[in-house]
Amino acid sequence: MAKIVVIGSCNIDITVECDRWAKPGETIFGNRLTVSPGGKGANQAVAAARLGADVTMVGCIGDDVYGQLVLKALKENNVNSDYVKVLPGENSGTAHITVAEDDNSIIVIKAANDLVSPALIDEAWEAISQADMVLLQHEIPAATNAYVIEKCFAAGVKVMLNPAPVAPVPAELLEKVTYLTPNEHEAAILFDGQGKADILGRNQGKVIMTLGSKGVAYAEKGQVYNVPGFKVQPVDTTGAGDTFNGAFAVARANGKSMYDSISFANAAAALSVQKLGAQGGMPYLNEVEEMLK
Ligand code: RIB
Repeated sequence: MAKIVVIGSCNIDITVECDRWAKPGETIFGNRLTVSPGGKGANQAVAAARLGADVTMVGCIGDDVYGQLVLKALKENNVNSDYVKVLPGENSGTAHITVAEDDNSIIVIKAANDLVSPALIDEAWEAISQADMVLLQHEIPAATNAYVIEKCFAAGVKVMLNPAPVAPVPAELLEKVTYLTPNEHEAAILFDGQGKADILGRNQGKVIMTLGSKGVAYAEKGQVYNVPGFKVQPVDTTGAGDTFNGAFAVARANGKSMYDSISFANAAAALSVQKLGAQGGMPYLNEVEEMLK
């Protein structure tokens, strides 16, 4: 069974569904309010666990009701939460989401996520050092991500970085990451405005570039590949990228080829958007296998 450790954010998503986007300065009516577990880190952990991996989450929550909801979701999905620290006097992270016109917009208040520290990484090191893959995103401090990347590189542990929300990362750190999963816009920021072909060509076997409806591109042995996605009617795209990342990590850790791992992740992501909530539509292994048939 693939061992995955996710180091990242735990949020509660506060989602409003609307028929259309509100313009700046305008008040409109929404249709429904949903409060559900999210956070790029916790989402990736749940996605990987539903697909059969042995998953440990490392992160921080506040000592509030939202934190308890996050923990409940992790436990219900068989994610080991021994290293999810409840911080006294802190608020849990929240994401304020609008879903409208087949898309979403998200504002994140990091709160306790901003307190995921190198000390917590040291505390969880036994689990981290035994992982087949460690997953990182950009919703905890950059210094902690840097600490993880350096420490894992020195110990020969594979790291996958999903650079969202985008922020620059020093080139010497990117070199130490095994897999990097930006979209085209994030890739241009990480690689100083280089174009897609250059980024893929110079980072073969590392950069997995998501291209929305155009599928996913990567390069291997001098050739660029494009893995098509699955066309579905979305209900809520929140968490689709997280499902993709969690699923790719599981498939790759289980020994699937790059192409097959991306195809597996595309199928998982397509299934995930058909229900409301980041974790609501995340599929189980049999559902992905059925779709791939
Ligand atoms: O990627 C989706 C996630 O981003 C949401 O669950 C929200 O919590 C934000 O972190």
